[in-house]
Amino acid sequence: MQSKKNKKNLDDLYSKNDGKHDKHMDLLFPKEGNINFGYWKSFSNPITMQERIDAQENLYELIFSILDLKQSDKILEVGFGRGRGIISLLEKGFDAFGLDALQEHVDRLKEKHTQTKNRLSHGLAEQLPYPKNEFDAIFSIEAAQHFTNMNDFIENCYRILKCSGKLVLTTFFFNSSLAKEKVSELIPESVEGTHNAQIITDVLNQLENSKFEINKVDKIGENVFPAYAHWQKQISQMLTPDVVPKDKSKWKSYFYARDELEHPWLTVFKKGWIDYYVVHCKKPA
Ligand SMILES: C[S@@+](CC[C@H](N)C(=O)[O-])C[C@H]1O[C@@H](n2cnc3c(N)ncnc32)[C@H](O)[C@@H]1O
Repeated sequence: MQSKKNKKNLDDLYSKNDGKHDKHMDLLFPKEGNINFGYWKSFSNPITMQERIDAQENLYELIFSILDLKQSDKILEVGFGRGRGIISLLEKGFDAFGLDALQEHVDRLKEKHTQTKNRLSHGLAEQLPYPKNEFDAIFSIEAAQHFTNMNDFIENCYRILKCSGKLVLTTFFFNSSLAKEKVSELIPESVEGTHNAQIITDVLNQLENSKFEINKVDKIGENVFPAYAHWQKQISQMLTPDVVPKDKSKWKSYFYARDELEHPWLTVFKKGWIDYYVVHCKKPA
């Protein structure tokens, strides 16, 4: 069961993102793209809208290349957001499925892309509603920072993956418990959704305890944080005081450009407190 607090956190972040409420979110994650920080090979100053959208898609492409999918593979994305990843897999002929905690994300995707109709589930990563040994591959992009119980997610993945099935997980993780405290002083969790972000060593330990084989752990922060921080500063120049939601007003300074200062996301990355990780693992044969 999803707690009320967790549901509210997700609703506040994503459900009001329709121009009605939170212009910051609309600028941060333009509608034409996905809802992630992006994987940037380079970026210009100012960053163009196309670059922003391409970077978000590149993160998906990076994960697809790591998964090294076969055409016959049955694939699940956990936390699909706007679902562009699933559409792209279906268009390439893959047998793709998705699950998301927000009913609105499920409904919107089904309505816009009827080919997803029997392929989407509304549910939680911690209680994946699929039979055991069902999937060849599972991936999750920038959603695990919201999971309230990482261990339940990992055990569920193990259960529903076939033997030799792959799990690829990417998002930001703290580098230590001290780092977690430091980051929370600079990054507002209610604005960035870092409420449940995990410490990387805890995640790796949980994967090993659940008998996953960890193939590789990549740090891709250099291709994520500098450009994402730049984008944050760039869009903050387009914000006016009236678009900062009342309940987030204590973080007002976070929303506005402060030319003389580095953006907090870049600071916490440079200090070594956080990184953006790609964890590839496998259920043993
Ligand atoms: C930052 S968005 C990323 C969406 C997408 N993967 C992308 O890269 O565009 C996080 C997504 O995870 C979903 N989510 C959060 N907690 C979840 C949970 N416990 N189980 C399943 N999905 C969850 C949210 O509803 C949201 O769609």
